[in-house]
Amino acid sequence: MTSFEKAQGIPLYTDFSTLQFAPQFASDSVGVSQQTLKLMERDHGLVIARRKAGSVPVRVYSVQDLFQIAHMRREKGLTKGLARTAVISTFVQKGGTAKTTTSVNLAIDFALRGLRVLIVDNDPQGDSTSMLGYDPDLSANELAALNVPGDRAVDGHLGNLLGVSMYPAKTLDEVIKKPFGEFGPHLIPAEESLEDLDVALRNANGSDFRYGLFFQKALKGENKSADLSGYDVIIIDNAPSTSLLTRNSMVASDFLICPIRMDRFSFKALGRLSDKLEAFAKDFQRSPEIFVVPTMYIKNRPRIQSNMEKLSETFPGKVAEVPLYFSEDYSKSLDDGVPIMLWKNASENSIGAMRSVFGNILNRIRATVGSA
Ligand SMILES: Nc1ncnc2c1ncn2[C@@H]1O[C@H](COP(=O)(O)OP(=O)(O)O)[C@@H](O)[C@H]1O
Ligand SMILES: [Mg+2]
Repeated sequence: MTSFEKAQGIPLYTDFSTLQFAPQFASDSVGVSQQTLKLMERDHGLVIARRKAGSVPVRVYSVQDLFQIAHMRREKGLTKGLARTAVISTFVQKGGTAKTTTSVNLAIDFALRGLRVLIVDNDPQGDSTSMLGYDPDLSANELAALNVPGDRAVDGHLGNLLGVSMYPAKTLDEVIKKPFGEFGPHLIPAEESLEDLDVALRNANGSDFRYGLFFQKALKGENKSADLSGYDVIIIDNAPSTSLLTRNSMVASDFLICPIRMDRFSFKALGRLSDKLEAFAKDFQRSPEIFVVPTMYIKNRPRIQSNMEKLSETFPGKVAEVPLYFSEDYSKSLDDGVPIMLWKNASENSIGAMRSVFGNILNRIRATVGSA
């Protein structure tokens, strides 16, 4: 949080544990009826707080409750995991196309569907890290002086886990953050010093494959200091640049999610990406499956509609069935410090479209990876 943001009155940090949700929001979030939620209390010992509203007490769900419900449903076999871990990168060679928004909310949505999710912030700017309530700029002591809990500071990133000599080696336990508790998405955060990893990778052997090798071992549980074998999905959020960090992320990924604004410049970026993927497939004999998400879509604009058609022609079968619409909800939820999937004022136009797009994405992943 910069002093500019503080001056704007943006809250310094959000205490997610104080968020409260109405039964309807809870029901929409985990995709079961309110009646089913009530039965979970009766039959499975789920404890939900009540708030007095007039003479009738009304249920209030906390964010931990939502993820707990998703976890319980998974444990009971009511939702399925994946046959193996899917590694996903969000990538477009352009800033401001909603990569971070997509990464963070996809992670939350997938966890609400019962998947075990890890999000890796691979952008030294640490935007996903901030969106999930951590401060990539200040130390624990500096935060404490501002009355922010010290655990909101970042103390380690992917660079500390990779075994490159530039950073002190740390274990996953030392680095990982759990913004919504055990059953919500987990986070490997980022901060500025991650930028130096580009130089470190440049000087390392197999500089394009360091992430790939790391994940390969860690996903099999063969890396003693970082066991990632419990995750269904790993989502890597990338910077718009084409540094070795992004390249590594792409090499390590099974899926590439590309949020695209329907303007000319984003189209250019997508064209470049298309060329790049071809070269990439030649170089590495593998290419991630691509999934294009049109974002910031404005209804009833002929040019946008024609761009959407062009997109579907360029990437047949790879474009989300519905776009993410342009909505003020995104900036408002950001001002409140709450990701839109957990923002109770979100309209159907924003959160509903997101759920639908993310459902599409999960279907595609299940079709490739298999469920278990
Ligand atoms: N569908 C949308 N409608 C309106 N604003 C959006 C939408 N999606 C994202 N935004 C806003 O656009 C800005 C850039 O999004 P971000 O996810 O940070 O992009 P990137 O990671 O690609 O740079 C943010 O302020 C975000 O709130
Ligand atoms: Mg970003």
